[in-house]
Amino acid sequence: MSAPLEAADHFRATLLWTADAPLYVGRTVTLLLGGIETGAVVTRIKHVVDPEQGPRPASRLERSDTAEVDVSTDRRISYAPYDQSKDLGGFTLTDQLTGSVVGGGKIRYALRRSSNIRWQHFEVTQRLRSAAKRQTARCLWMTGLSGAGKSTLANLLEQRLHLEGRHSYVLDGDNVRHGLNKDLGFTEDDRIENIRRVAEVARLMVDAGLIVIVALISPFRADRAAARRMFAEGDFVEVFVDASIGTCEARDTKGLYAKARRGELPNFTGIGSPYEPPEVPEIRVDTNAGTAAECVAQILRHTGMIGTA
Ligand code: ADX
Repeated sequence: MSAPLEAADHFRATLLWTADAPLYVGRTVTLLLGGIETGAVVTRIKHVVDPEQGPRPASRLERSDTAEVDVSTDRRISYAPYDQSKDLGGFTLTDQLTGSVVGGGKIRYALRRSSNIRWQHFEVTQRLRSAAKRQTARCLWMTGLSGAGKSTLANLLEQRLHLEGRHSYVLDGDNVRHGLNKDLGFTEDDRIENIRRVAEVARLMVDAGLIVIVALISPFRADRAAARRMFAEGDFVEVFVDASIGTCEARDTKGLYAKARRGELPNFTGIGSPYEPPEVPEIRVDTNAGTAAECVAQILRHTGMIGTA
């Protein structure tokens, strides 16, 4: 007789990656198993199985790589090891944005920590903490090129909120990289982790009842979508701070565009690394033409953060 089904949210698995674009640790995909669909993240690549040379370490998976990985799912799912049940141990991975199949895998076993950690419930909730501050907590996520004006707008916006007695905090890319994220650079996998950590901190701050303004280039749609999924509906407001690369390069307040053009700054967004503009942001402000004050007024109008609680 077979053992009763177990549920877990963190697994050791063997994975075959089939997409052209690499799989980076930390990027969210959709996992389908036994008729269940959930968000999932490869949290660790233990090693790639090289048919000729055996196991080798890797920080990402290329097309046709088979690897031993740790996978974490957004929710607990019923499973069985693949060698006991192909139906409950075999999974498919699809891209969260396009829905296309990007890989497949076999669960080997659940990682023990997934069953030893429980969510602790607290009675004082986000709603109560927000109400005590007479505001609606949310995360305003500003994305845009370096030099588009994210920090400038965040600064002005926070001053306006502060004057009105609102409780806020700015999580700015450059600043967070001095502390929490000082171990991260600008490769694609480091940016994924940068965005994931900032989104987690922003989520805690929103839970604490604050209005959180995030100012991060956050160049990849998939990572902004993953950040959005961490929040309740309506708590995440994507603000596209739109300025052309020409405008940003002409401003070049930090001299980084000049450096990148001289080839001294690899992976610089807009030059050596792509920027994927939002397709349907809640708010788009155009800083090519509009003044910072006009853009802030537009954000305040749209969110109704001043005037109404
Ligand atoms: S993100 O892409 O990971 O979201 P983040 O907003 O934290 O980037 O940091 C961007 C800031 O780091 C820029 O404003 C710029 O001052 C600095 N920077 C240094 N190197 C790079 C680079 N290669 N690409 C983009 N920004 C860089």
